[in-house]
Formats: sequence, structure tokens, C-alpha cells
Amino acid sequence: MKQRILFVDDESNILKGLQRSLRPLRNQWEMTFTGSAVSALECLERDPFDVIVSDMRMPQMDGAQLLGTVQEKYPLMVRIILSGHSDQEMVMKSVKSAHQYLSKPCEKQVLIDTITRACFLRNTLNQKSLQYVVSGIDTIPILPALYTQIMAELNSKDASAASVGEIITKDIGMTAKILQLVNSSFFGMPRHVANPMEAVIFLGIDVVKTLVLSIEVFAEFQERTLSILPVKKIYDHCVKTGIIAKKIAVLEKMGKEESDNAMIAGILHDLGRLLLAENFPDEYQEIMEKVKKDQKEIHVVELAILGVTHAQIGAYLLGLWGLPDNIVEGVAFHHNPSADIVKKFDLCGLLHVANLMEHHEQILPNGWDHLIGVDTDYLDQYDMTKRIPLWRDSLRIK
Ligand SMILES: [Fe+2]
Ligand SMILES: [Fe+2]
Repeated sequence: MKQRILFVDDESNILKGLQRSLRPLRNQWEMTFTGSAVSALECLERDPFDVIVSDMRMPQMDGAQLLGTVQEKYPLMVRIILSGHSDQEMVMKSVKSAHQYLSKPCEKQVLIDTITRACFLRNTLNQKSLQYVVSGIDTIPILPALYTQIMAELNSKDASAASVGEIITKDIGMTAKILQLVNSSFFGMPRHVANPMEAVIFLGIDVVKTLVLSIEVFAEFQERTLSILPVKKIYDHCVKTGIIAKKIAVLEKMGKEESDNAMIAGILHDLGRLLLAENFPDEYQEIMEKVKKDQKEIHVVELAILGVTHAQIGAYLLGLWGLPDNIVEGVAFHHNPSADIVKKFDLCGLLHVANLMEHHEQILPNGWDHLIGVDTDYLDQYDMTKRIPLWRDSLRIK
């Protein structure tokens, strides 16, 4: 089926330019071009669309308002903002409802790749089997209150390490948990971290807010006594996976944002296991037993019994919570990175390797040469297989 895409820009020259350069794609995409936010909303009322690509500065209603409305009314649509280069920073701050940000003038191929990638991710997460399982879940966890408060603070103009630290400090229980975690041996901090503000300075706001999110969500699952899953053990595994993923990213000289996102994705990568276990306890019990008995990988057994994997359902949840696409993508493909549409060694690959390394280290500390279960086709493609011993030796996982 063709993807339906709506382009919105008040400058007719830009619209015409887009129309001309994207014409060769008309067999794949059904494209509509319109000149204002109001007319865009009218188009959406008439016909369903999969993607909206909107300009930022427009008279009457701007791109931020338009995408906000689209998010409310049509939550499943992919929302992309296309803004002038000089607006970039302002746009990243003010337009929280966009999945992707592009700057004008945008190279045709970048635009095509961005739309294709976003559609691929949505299609993966909107498969029938997944929808069926999601519809069987009574309560999709909502974003925890403290996390939402931090996000609101980050949207304000004067957000800083101090202001975010202060919000966390007010919650004594959370402060204690964060400090205990950050000062534990796995983080390898250069010195003792005394308060949440220091944690933000050392680890960055994005990582600390993810720790808040994960601590709140995991604590809630633990309270509801998920007897079939060792919640605490899974949490430790997730945090350690995040730390390993970031370390590999640093070893591979990836940028700061990518390294931080690798850690964030790691901390959240197995959240789907809790969701499945809570909502399908009988099936999940069977899955756990089968994994033990047949020595099979957990996602393979989940797929056979439930028709979906914890990676898919976890990614679905993170998408719903509005986490960035590359994190959602990393979680979705952490067991099979070569299934992803992005053809490079990126966050998916980091997470895939880090997850397996953490498992191996639990079973055979330092006693392994190969990573069993690794997607060798994927790693070979980017000539990364030979890097595994180096990663292992330089990590000193504890
Ligand atoms: Fe997993
Ligand atoms: Fe895992």
C-alpha cells in the first residue's frame, strides 16, 4: 500500500520545489501539498494520512501548533518538522510533538530517507499481531509523574542541571535510589556523587531523566509482585547493558548524543518483558519454562507463543511515550539488528552487542571468546566482528 504524505508550507516556491523533486516517488507515495496549517487540518479531516511534513514558521498557526493538534487527533501519524536552519535550536526546544527535525534547504535524499525510516518503524510497530497483543493489555503504563515533571521543566526556557536536580531532590525516595545506583560500581564514577544535581552534571540530563523513568516503572512492576520474573535482576541487566552500550559507543568514537542515546536505550531495552509477563502471566510462565528447558533465546520463544517479542512491545510503549525514534528503533531491533532498515553500525548494533555481552559476562565472566547469539551477518557487514575482543577486554564488566 502507498504511504500517504501531507506536505505543508506557506511558501509556494518551496512547495513547488518539493513537488518537483519528489515526483519520481509518486509510485510509492501518495503526496498532497498544501499552503497553510488550517488547510492541512482540513485535508486530514477528509482523508487519512500516514505522514505529515510541516514548515515551522507560518502565519496564523505555526508548525508547532499544527503538529501538536495532529498528535492529539491522529496519534499514529509520523510528524516531521522542516524548519529554517537558523531556527533549529528554537525548534528542537519548542516542538516536542515532532518525531523528526529537518532543516531547510533539505537534501532530497535526506528527506526521502527520513520519511522512509519513520514509516518503516511505524509499520513494524503497527503489525496486526502486535496490535492484537496491545489490545489485550488492560493498562498500558502511563508516564510516571516525576518523569513528566522533569519533561515539563525541560520544556521551559530556564531549565538547567540545578533546576532538574532540584525537582528530583524533592522526592526523597527517588533521590536515594538514584544516588545508590549512580554510586554503584557499575557506573565507575570518578568520585562520590552527593546529590541529583551532580548526577545530572556527570551523566547529562537525558540519562538521569531515563534513570528516573526506569526506576519508577520498574518499581511499580515490582510492587505488583511479578512473581514469574526476577524484576530486580532484569533491571540490573538493563542498566549494565546501557553502560556497556555507551562504553562501546565511546570506544568507536561515536558522538556524545549517540553515546547517551545508546545508554538510554540500554536502560529501557527489556521493559517489554515486564509488560508481557504482567498481562499474559500464564503464557509467560510457559515461555520462561521453555527457554530453560530448550535452551532457546527468549525472543524466539515469545514469538512462537505470543506472536510478538518483548523488543517489539517495549519499542511500541516507548514510541507511545514519545521517546526519540532512534531509541525506539534500537529497542525494537536489539535481538536482530539486520532487520532494521538503517544500514550502518549504529544504536541498534551497539545495543545488540551490549545486551549479549552483559548476558555472557553473567554466565562466564571473562571466559568467552565469541558472542553466542550475535547477528554475525550484521557485524560482518560493518567489519565489526573483529572488534568484539577489544570491546570485551576494555570493558571490565563488573
Ligand atoms: Fe531483550
Ligand atoms: Fe536484554
